[in-house]
Amino acid sequence: MIIAIDGPAGSGKSTVAKLVARRMGFRYLDTGAMYRALAFHALANGVSTSDEDAVVRLATQSEVTFAHEPGDPLPSRVFIAAEDVTAAIRTPSVDDAVSAVARLPRVRAAMLEQQRHLGRDSDIVVEGRDIGTVVFPNAEVKVFLTATPDERARRRVAQQAQSGALVDIADVRESIERRDSADSTREIAPLVAADDAHQLDTTGLSIDEVVERIAQFAEGERA
Ligand code: CDP
Repeated sequence: MIIAIDGPAGSGKSTVAKLVARRMGFRYLDTGAMYRALAFHALANGVSTSDEDAVVRLATQSEVTFAHEPGDPLPSRVFIAAEDVTAAIRTPSVDDAVSAVARLPRVRAAMLEQQRHLGRDSDIVVEGRDIGTVVFPNAEVKVFLTATPDERARRRVAQQAQSGALVDIADVRESIERRDSADSTREIAPLVAADDAHQLDTTGLSIDEVVERIAQFAEGERA
C-alpha cells in the first residue's frame, strides 16, 4: 500500500508521515529532502538555481540517498554525493533556493524516476507536494494536509527552536508563504490536492489526532 501525504510548508507532513509509517510498519520517503539536498548541492558548488542544464547535470551525477540510525527502521539521514547533508538542508538559504530548483522540468523528471523506484514493491508512506497527483497517482490513500499560515509559521519556529535556532515568526511566515506561492503556481506538478485526496485541516488538531485519522483511512482501504 502507498500512503501519499502532500501539503504546503509547515503543515506537519514530516512529523505525521513518520509517525504513520512507524505505527503501520511501513517504509518512509521524504521527497522534499531530495529537492533540498539538490538545492544545497547547487549552492555549495556555485551553480545557479536557474541554470537548468547545470542543475540537471548535478542531479544526474550526484545521487541522493538515505540512511538509518542503528536500531531505527526509518531513514533519518540524507546524503548527496556521499556527503551527509541532514542538517545543512534545513537552513534559511536552502528554504529560499529550493523552489527554484524544484520548478525545473528536467529536474522533476529525474526526481520522479528516482522516487518511483524508491517507492516500488512495498508498503510505504511518501510525503511531498505532488505525490498523490503525479508521483503515485494510484496511491491507495491520499491525504492533503493544511493549516492556517499563522499555525504553520508557529510550528516551523517551534521546530527550529528545538535545534537551537532563534528565528523571527514574521520572517518565517513570509518565507513559507513565498515558497507556497512558488510551489503552487509552477507549471509542472504544482502543489495542489488530488481530486481523490482526503483534505485535512490540522489547525486545531493534535499530532496524534492527525496520525489517527490517517491510520483510519488506511485501515478503511485494507478492510
Ligand atoms: O518541510 P517543508 O514543508 O518545509 O518542505 P519540504 O517538504 O522539505 O519541501 C521543500 C521544497 O521542495 C518545497 O517547497 C518544494 O519546492 C519542493 N518539493 C517539490 O517540489 N515536490 C515534492 N514532492 C516535495 C518537495
